[in-house]
Amino acid sequence: MAETRNDQSAAEGIWSMRRLPEMDEAQFSQWQTLLEHRTGITLNAGRKSFLETNLGIRMREIGCNSYQAYYEKVASGPDAIVEWSTLVDRLTVQETRFFRDPDAFRLVSDYVLTRPREVLKKRPMEAWSVGSSTGEEPYTLAMLLNECMSQLALPPLYGVTGSDISKPAIEKAQRGLFNARKLMGMDEEMKTRYFRPAERNSVEIVESIRERVCFTRLNVLDLKRAPMHGMNIIFCQNLLIYFRRWRRREIVKRLAERLAPGGLLVLGQGEVTDWHPPGLQRVPSEHVLAWIRRQTDEE
Ligand SMILES: C[S@@+](CC[C@H](N)C(=O)[O-])C[C@H]1O[C@@H](n2cnc3c(N)ncnc32)[C@H](O)[C@@H]1O
Repeated sequence: MAETRNDQSAAEGIWSMRRLPEMDEAQFSQWQTLLEHRTGITLNAGRKSFLETNLGIRMREIGCNSYQAYYEKVASGPDAIVEWSTLVDRLTVQETRFFRDPDAFRLVSDYVLTRPREVLKKRPMEAWSVGSSTGEEPYTLAMLLNECMSQLALPPLYGVTGSDISKPAIEKAQRGLFNARKLMGMDEEMKTRYFRPAERNSVEIVESIRERVCFTRLNVLDLKRAPMHGMNIIFCQNLLIYFRRWRRREIVKRLAERLAPGGLLVLGQGEVTDWHPPGLQRVPSEHVLAWIRRQTDEE
């Protein structure tokens, strides 16, 4: 019996070191279609090795040795939903930073600081980070809103929601713990105001900011099911770049519907070109792609 177990672990060891065969074109196309259908993300031919590497890592973890068998497991097997949820996290790019796009955040600050005071006092400012990854972007929005409110000598009446398709990214965001290196380049005063040292070279977001930010898992292709409405600020950067042009436009239209009249939509520079979303007015800026929802829906 002991011998059999040893043989088995030796075989597993050999398998885990073996290279997977190259993915053929039909298989690549099958995976491209599945990924695009479920997430909107397109993978061009240049990303085939990215797909092979990341599928390969996951397949080794679960001892699966053929792309086809793994495809069937993810597409329709009994654990398909759970396996897909693990895989999607591996196939999405989650790169992000605090204050990643300074021009866009400056525009958000200017927008808030120029709102009528009476409006800011009456109703909380609601911001939404779409494709929030591990939380740096929604926490940045919360810090900015906090700065604006204190500059205006108003109570901190604001809330931020972060949403993402990846469950591990959402869980990390909820913990609010980051490696101290993540703060490199950030304004020193902001660092001391909004972060506390935590264990093992990490820092945590202060409670007063954490309690203003909530996270939810949401696929941007399912926006019709999203409960967010009447948002004052929607921030969606570095997500639409992975999508086809027609899909970007569809999503921007859906996001615009979630804005309050007069609300601000911010995308990444160049993420939508040669098109004007209905009901929105472009914010004049050379460096930021942003629109304001008109007060009425007339063009
Ligand atoms: C590159 S990160 C951008 C993070 C942040 N917005 C920024 O600009 O720093 C892209 C994020 O979009 C998420 N994502 C990809 N496809 C998605 C989808 N269909 N629905 C929701 N989130 C998605 C990924 O999980 C990832 O966290």
